[in-house]
Amino acid sequence: MRERRSGRVLVADDEEGVRSFLAESLERDDHEVVAVADGAAALAAAREEPFDVVITDLKMPKLDGMSVVRTLRTEQPDVELIVLTAFGDVSTAVEAMKLGVFDYLQKPVSSPAAVRELVKGALGRRDLLAVPADAPAVRSTLTFGAPSMAPVVAALAKVAKSGATVLLQGESGTGKEVAARALHDTSPRADKPFVAINCAVLTEHLLESELFGHEKGAFTGAHAQRRGRIELADGGTFFLDEVGELKASLQAKLLRVLEERSFERLGGSQLVEVDVRWVAATHRDLRAMVREGTFREDLYHRLAVFPIRLPPLRERREDIVPLARALVADLAHAAGRAPPRLDAALEARLREETWPGNVRELRNALERAMILADGDVLGSEHLWLEPPSTDVAPPGEVRAGAIDAAGPAAVKGGSLADLERQTIESTLREVDGNRRAAAAKLGIGLRTLYDKLKKYGIR
Ligand SMILES: Nc1ncnc2c1ncn2[C@@H]1O[C@H](COP(=O)(O)OP(=O)(O)OP(=O)(O)O)[C@@H](O)[C@H]1O
Ligand SMILES: [Mg+2]
Repeated sequence: MRERRSGRVLVADDEEGVRSFLAESLERDDHEVVAVADGAAALAAAREEPFDVVITDLKMPKLDGMSVVRTLRTEQPDVELIVLTAFGDVSTAVEAMKLGVFDYLQKPVSSPAAVRELVKGALGRRDLLAVPADAPAVRSTLTFGAPSMAPVVAALAKVAKSGATVLLQGESGTGKEVAARALHDTSPRADKPFVAINCAVLTEHLLESELFGHEKGAFTGAHAQRRGRIELADGGTFFLDEVGELKASLQAKLLRVLEERSFERLGGSQLVEVDVRWVAATHRDLRAMVREGTFREDLYHRLAVFPIRLPPLRERREDIVPLARALVADLAHAAGRAPPRLDAALEARLREETWPGNVRELRNALERAMILADGDVLGSEHLWLEPPSTDVAPPGEVRAGAIDAAGPAAVKGGSLADLERQTIESTLREVDGNRRAAAAKLGIGLRTLYDKLKKYGIR
């Protein structure tokens, strides 16, 4: 996704001087500017034609700026808002920030460059949140609706442009991987490789050779030189997922690469230089692990240059419905059908749930609802929630929770084998076909998974 050069900006201020100052400053960056003199005119203009950014004064006749902000927040949540505050009026600015506005400018506004920089940042965040028409898979785009997430999204938008190392922390299913991809896609490295590795699914030796590659003859079976994933990410972004699972020896090796930006392949002595942007993720509390001595403090500080926490869904309930709509649109597109509408009762139910599996669990529940619903409305009767997971899957069997979740109605409709096949297919889709990760999520061995893939003829 390329950085946007210009956008449509609506300016609302009752002072003619301020309007023309802002318009001139922004037109120099090819932004299209519409300027109005009060809040009522601002809402009228915003309802008539689309804008990317709205800059509004707070004190205006007819309708004040905070009313404009509140109204647009609900009517057009993806429009970026910037407020102009009177000198020293920080409290209103803070109130506006809590409502999710992108930023505020204190009056008198004197620097055209500051205005242009702010609008550029706002467009950057909008790009981060936008769902591009041609990429329905939300893999690299994020949906947020909760004002409490505004600082996270603003941070992601800003840090994307920098080369700083980012540490994404959060429970399973909170969106660490999609955030990592969104960071890459909105960074200057967007057209370079995004390479990911999950430290939880590989043995220590395999992980080492995957990370650093190996020279010919480095170990039995190393018939030829093989470049590792860090090298494959050169110029782009390297996503180190589940970094908390790294063993001590690999922690030390990784630290050296982060410090020296070079390494040797296994069995080699030639130094390989790399230019990668590091993004790491974990559901663990790394600082607690540092205190316990199971994670290196120096490595932690190297990774946590820009730590970002993705809160669990239960802490950002305003996200649930915007997410559910975006996920249903995504699932419908993947199924080649028009997205069904979520009725109000279902939306209320979704908001109530605690979603221990966070967005991934919400997505699975919506996928099930879409399987069970015949018409183009999803209702609360179509919602089958996963039972609280107390049981551990017997070896060789797909975890009961994953099958039960489909609910008795579906079992009655389809055989257990059908359910098992569907569960395997949806898990594979979730992890982009990564069989190891799928086996790990299903709680079965890789061998067993291959057997089942063959059994069900899943390509
Ligand atoms: N903000 C979001 N917008 C859209 N989709 C999201 C968002 N957050 C998560 N998802 C979806 O939820 C699912 C889980 O997200 P993701 O894989 O990134 O979670 P995670 O934090 O990496 O989980 P885990 O710790 O288990 O690996 C994915 O299908 C992803 O597309
Ligand atoms: Mg993940």
